[in-house]
Amino acid sequence: MFSFRTLKESVKKVCPDFLVPFFHALLWPGRALRKIKAVNYAIVRRRNKKWAELRTGGGGKLRIDLIELETVNRCNGICPFCPVNVNQPQRKYAKMSEELFRKIIDDLAGMDYSGRLALYSNNEPFLDERIIDFHRYANSKLPNAFFGLYTNGTLLTLEKFIEIIPYLDDLVIDNYNDNKEINTPELRKIYDYLQQHKELNERVHFWFRLQNEVLFTRGGRAPNKAESDSRTVDIVCSLPFQQMVIRPTGEISLCCNDALGEYTLGDLKTQSILEVWESSKYQAIRREMLANARKNLPMCKNCDRDYEYHIPQKKRR
Ligand SMILES: C[S@@+](CC[C@H](N)C(=O)[O-])C[C@H]1O[C@@H](n2cnc3c(N)ncnc32)[C@H](O)[C@@H]1O
Ligand code: SF4
Ligand code: SF4
Repeated sequence: MFSFRTLKESVKKVCPDFLVPFFHALLWPGRALRKIKAVNYAIVRRRNKKWAELRTGGGGKLRIDLIELETVNRCNGICPFCPVNVNQPQRKYAKMSEELFRKIIDDLAGMDYSGRLALYSNNEPFLDERIIDFHRYANSKLPNAFFGLYTNGTLLTLEKFIEIIPYLDDLVIDNYNDNKEINTPELRKIYDYLQQHKELNERVHFWFRLQNEVLFTRGGRAPNKAESDSRTVDIVCSLPFQQMVIRPTGEISLCCNDALGEYTLGDLKTQSILEVWESSKYQAIRREMLANARKNLPMCKNCDRDYEYHIPQKKRR
């Protein structure tokens, strides 16, 4: 099936690197314009505020669109842009118990959750040997949820890939390598497998990523970029209105950029998902975000995340 992403990847394959931006500008002038930061900020600022006001103003229940559930808080990666890389001070080790995992999934099943569920957050999901079983269980309970997963691929084998793929609507393999080489022999097998199984192209994205680059500040915690562009301070961030991030302990972080779990908005060991989502702590963050955007929120004011709200993804299986 045709998509923006596959077209973009095709351009990348046929074009020398230096010509890619020109091709993109020709094909998608609107997107090229939004590469200019000031233009993008102005659009996101206007749209997010309006969207958040509409979302909270209707009197109905605020829907959860995105859930990240981290089952173990470790990564084996060395990405200099990421606060949880192995060279950073490590979080207190935590691995979610199976009992808590089932409680959370059953709670979501009771809500007939139909947003995106990702069984990772700030970690490498394949460090948890239960990850495929967890996907199997969650799929059986949540037929309407969209399952997405990101991995650095280093622990992935072709066998595991074939086993997990029926449970995923979207899989991103982040192959971090400054020379654009495939990192492991197993990843090479997966790459070749994908060439022969074009039907997976829409769901699986093998991304050649640079290991050393400067990306977002992540609330000021990215090791190679702490300072945000001060213009983002005025932008209402959509995440408190649509995302919930669950740590292996069951505690709830501010968002996916609160990588070290510095905020705790609730605890699913003792509370239900909706209790936390509608709690006074969450509401206070949303009120503040709507009133003054990021200015008075210590982590947010250092955050240069400049995305628009997420439109829920459609199931791909
Ligand atoms: C935190 S990782 C977790 C999953 C897995 N370990 C991986 O790298 O794909 C999820 C995504 O966050 C991205 N990421 C990490 N730090 C970032 C930053 N400073 N700015 C933008 N994206 C970042 C990663 O590149 C990856 O695509
Ligand atoms: S981006 Fe992913 S692989 Fe890299 S350090 Fe962060 S969690 Fe690990
Ligand atoms: S502004 Fe950044 S830190 Fe604050 S909620 Fe949004 S993504 Fe998270």
